[in-house]
Amino acid sequence: MSNTTKPTEVAKNAAAPSTPIPLTRKPVAAAPTSVVTAPSGTASKTACIRTFGCQMNVHDSDRMRRMIQDAGFAEVQRYEDADLVVLNTCYVRENAVDRVRGHLGELNRLKKEGRVKKVALTGCIGAANESRELEKQYGIDLVLGTHNTYELAQFVGLPGMDETFTPELPGTEGEHSAFVTIMTGCNYQCSYCVVPSVRGRMVCRPMENVVEEIRRLVGSGTRYVTLLGQTVDAWRDPAGSGERFCDLLERVADEAPRVWFTTSHPSNMEDRTLRLIGEKETIVGRLHLPVQSGSDRMLKVMHRGYKSDRYRRKIEVFREAVPDGTLSTDIIVGHPGETETDHEETLRLIEDCSFDSAYVFKFSPRRGTEAAALSADPSGTVPEDVAQRRFVEVLRAVEQNAFRRNKSKVGAVEDIYVRHGRTGDGKAVGETWSGHAVHIPTEAQPGRYVTATIESAGPHVLYAGDPAGRPR
Ligand code: 5AD
Ligand code: SF4
Repeated sequence: MSNTTKPTEVAKNAAAPSTPIPLTRKPVAAAPTSVVTAPSGTASKTACIRTFGCQMNVHDSDRMRRMIQDAGFAEVQRYEDADLVVLNTCYVRENAVDRVRGHLGELNRLKKEGRVKKVALTGCIGAANESRELEKQYGIDLVLGTHNTYELAQFVGLPGMDETFTPELPGTEGEHSAFVTIMTGCNYQCSYCVVPSVRGRMVCRPMENVVEEIRRLVGSGTRYVTLLGQTVDAWRDPAGSGERFCDLLERVADEAPRVWFTTSHPSNMEDRTLRLIGEKETIVGRLHLPVQSGSDRMLKVMHRGYKSDRYRRKIEVFREAVPDGTLSTDIIVGHPGETETDHEETLRLIEDCSFDSAYVFKFSPRRGTEAAALSADPSGTVPEDVAQRRFVEVLRAVEQNAFRRNKSKVGAVEDIYVRHGRTGDGKAVGETWSGHAVHIPTEAQPGRYVTATIESAGPHVLYAGDPAGRPR
């Protein structure tokens, strides 16, 4: 078995969200609005990029980082050291906006003091109507949505680009891991979700275009590729070949040494994709499949398009295909109309599926969504104390299962991929082929593999002993 393929008897886990990139042609290039210039007397310009939200945003930030570097900016970590600050934002929950408001307030003050020169607001909040209000209130210099982030290039003084996806501007080429967006937008209309209105309808990238990017990344040293999309498993070949996500995943798994994908939608998840995860040596055995609720009534109100038993069946197929794999989900508690019975059904589903981890959210009304309108009627709203109790109960149920499953990993010898190098506590963070997150005492750099025995387990993470042999 090679160092970079998964052992058959070993486990997998965990998960996170996702991003888009429209393939639309850019409108005729306008003259750069306001190019940030270097402060007088200094030779270099500085920029700070702050990212909020999902991995799609992390990916978009990487692309913007490349632009600002090409334009001669040095990246700095603190706002007060930056000529240009880019806030790449998330709009999924209300507190995301509140958090960004706090940052915008501070930046406005730093601008008045002459320390920060320009502020750009990008990402999902940039694409939402609310951004106009924020732009005025905080004197923002540039607002970009998720579909026109390429305009940052002109803003910082680079020539304009024809499309967001250009081979000249790869995501994270040359680094040990890369996010590759294969589709953008979403064709669903979940009651609570703002994504379709900020990211638009689904646009899929052609298969060959994706495969070419992956070849280039792997050729330049990338060892881990994550395929991204808001509903990544809804991917279809736009050229009309009839090829679906499973076909693309298989091609990618033949090209890249380690592959994962996120986020999936249960209605699009095919059994053959689940089986492929178990069959392919290079696919990490971790599935993130948001269920949102265990109640059929709520799933209908949410317009999720499946019933809880269909979700359970998918999980059975996954568990059978990838017995040591890890499964994570998203759950919303307190959606308007959620009753105690609905909540109990969610708890029942958690028992049945035995998730390895879950992102649990308290419902937050997003302007313009159907659920926000429902929440305007007090008779349907779930009181805050009830939502809080349900939130804790769901978290606890998930953690109990996860802890039990994690403990069963103690004693296993694992090939662990190092994702983040050693931190203050002397531990690096890695991932097993089963997708479990592991803390390991190693000096190994990100992108390397080490072999170590799992010595103990917590509800969220495994702890390995000293690795045997050298990092690979
Ligand atoms: N309130 C609470 N959670 C939400 N999510 C999306 N919109 C909302 C909302 N309005 C959660 C869903 C989704 C995850 C990314 O965020 O669970 O899967
Ligand atoms: Fe939002 Fe639903 Fe689309 Fe996911 S599938 S991005 S929750 S509308």
